[in-house]
Amino acid sequence: MGKPVDVIQSVRLDDENDTLILLDQTVLPNEKNYLHLKELKDIWDAIYHLKVRGAPAIGIAAAYGVYLGAKQSAAVSYEELYLDFQKAKEYLASSRPTAVNLFWALDRMEARFQKEEGKAAVEIKQALKVEAEKIRAEDEKVCESIGQHALSVLEPGWGILTHCNAGTIATAKYGTALAPIYLGQEKGYDFKVYADETRPLLQGARLTAWELGEAGVDVTLICDNMASIVMKEGKVQAVLVGCDRVAANGDAANKIGTSGVAILAKHYNIPFYVCAPLSTIDLACKTGEDIHIELRDSEEITSKWYEKTMAPEGVKTYNPAFDVTDHELITGIITENGIAYAPFTESLSKMFK
Ligand code: MRU
Repeated sequence: MGKPVDVIQSVRLDDENDTLILLDQTVLPNEKNYLHLKELKDIWDAIYHLKVRGAPAIGIAAAYGVYLGAKQSAAVSYEELYLDFQKAKEYLASSRPTAVNLFWALDRMEARFQKEEGKAAVEIKQALKVEAEKIRAEDEKVCESIGQHALSVLEPGWGILTHCNAGTIATAKYGTALAPIYLGQEKGYDFKVYADETRPLLQGARLTAWELGEAGVDVTLICDNMASIVMKEGKVQAVLVGCDRVAANGDAANKIGTSGVAILAKHYNIPFYVCAPLSTIDLACKTGEDIHIELRDSEEITSKWYEKTMAPEGVKTYNPAFDVTDHELITGIITENGIAYAPFTESLSKMFK
């Protein structure tokens, strides 16, 4: 038996001061710096620049953000406050396009706003605060549940490869793909995790290797192009990844490079699981073709990690932040309500019932 793991939390509201507190993920693992944000533009900037990142954490930050935006409005009537709320919502929605949790959380906040019709501004603001807190608290439970379902398909001692960071700092707590690792650690499962470094922003190296190391998990960092050799050498018995948006047919958008890992897993006959809260499943997207893939600045590829440039000056670049893994490569999609298997068009919609 292991012992309880002390899991880091990266996003919360300081209730007394009405301040959003975020663990700045851009400076990890070198600094553990907490940002204290109140202004909408700072929250937008934190999402855009990946100070807060990972689909569920982005949604939680946006929920608190739209509450703080409404709170600062001087409007007195429902109608005037609604206009200010909608402006804040639209603004935050423009920060990043791929993770559906952002839009899911903002829509849920709007639905709560509408439920308060006729009430005084001060009451509506309080209701928004309660709803944002509910979104955060529910995510913690959802992640724990994903972890329990995932554990049912894993065996003690297994080698598990993961890509990017779908860990505790990408959610309210525990993570999605890393939730079974933490829960397994508590049960003494002794997993051996292989973390892809995840070019270009190194979420695997800077974040996954860091947070698992902090929790005492056996983690080995590899470069992205080493996934094939560790699979071939028999070091990996399962791949677990998170995701940013799952289409109705099971196609899943996640950090760039994920689909390559899925192709390798198929080649080596290794099960490939996508861990996805229901808030990440977007039945309005029929297939992965409908998912908007974020394109980011060239400097992430050409100059981000060195003082000197990493590529010839002016070189053409292409920097999609996500790719879509074809549903045919996915063994199962692990949600808080159970594991969906092919045909996903049927099994995913059943998860909502
Ligand atoms: O660009 P990022 O770092 O926000 O991308 C994050 C991912 O791709 C994660 O795997 C995904 O959001 C799931 S986090 C539980």
